[in-house]
Amino acid sequence: MASNYDNSAWFYDSLSKLFYGKSLINAQVYLLSFIKPNSSILIAGGGTGWILEEIAKIHPSGLKITYVEISANMMALSKKRAVGDNDVIFINSPVEEVSFAEKFDIIITPFLFDNFTGDTLQKVFDHLHPLLKTDGLWLNTDFQLTGKWWQNVMLKTMFVFFKIVCGIETSVLPDINKQFEQYGYDAIAQKTFYGDFVSSKNFKKSS
Ligand SMILES: C[S@@+](CC[C@H](N)C(=O)[O-])C[C@H]1O[C@@H](n2cnc3c(N)ncnc32)[C@H](O)[C@@H]1O
Repeated sequence: MASNYDNSAWFYDSLSKLFYGKSLINAQVYLLSFIKPNSSILIAGGGTGWILEEIAKIHPSGLKITYVEISANMMALSKKRAVGDNDVIFINSPVEEVSFAEKFDIIITPFLFDNFTGDTLQKVFDHLHPLLKTDGLWLNTDFQLTGKWWQNVMLKTMFVFFKIVCGIETSVLPDINKQFEQYGYDAIAQKTFYGDFVSSKNFKKSS
């Protein structure tokens, strides 16, 4: 079952800041420095769309962005964002159901995969992988467990909360790194945030 963040759209960013401060934002902004001018970019699961404004601060023009978000309420907020002179196409749909005419230089998946079971992760990944050009960059940010007890507590709490409020399908974190490894991606840059709980990786597609 696809999750729906409609119910949480109006408080999502405030809740995130309450628990994580600016960590979840910093983790995604870190990866934006790898975007080259005039890139074509696919963003899947951008939430309220603040990332569009952060991108526009670095590249006020020249980018071709396709922004796909399953939640209508998240999408409505995203469409109000200041995107500069970048060309943004908004698509309100599950990203795995969208057919794209062209491949992208960059794919961004910010806290998308933690919503999924292993099976859905596989399905969505299989859909996105062919859409990235060879030598393209996949900028992925998500939670990871590195053995600290409080990470498990926070993750379980989030899963319970978002299952009740948004109907997310999973209660465990799928193995996101393994997925990238299986498809031959190399992490050419990476950084962790919030005591290693959040991992941002710049994966390069080699074939
Ligand atoms: C955990 S939130 C993260 C939001 C945003 N990236 C952020 O960090 O603030 C996950 C987002 O992915 C969206 N989403 C979930 N499944 C999706 C799918 N299959 N296709 C597109 N968007 C999806 C949700 O609606 C939600 O906005």
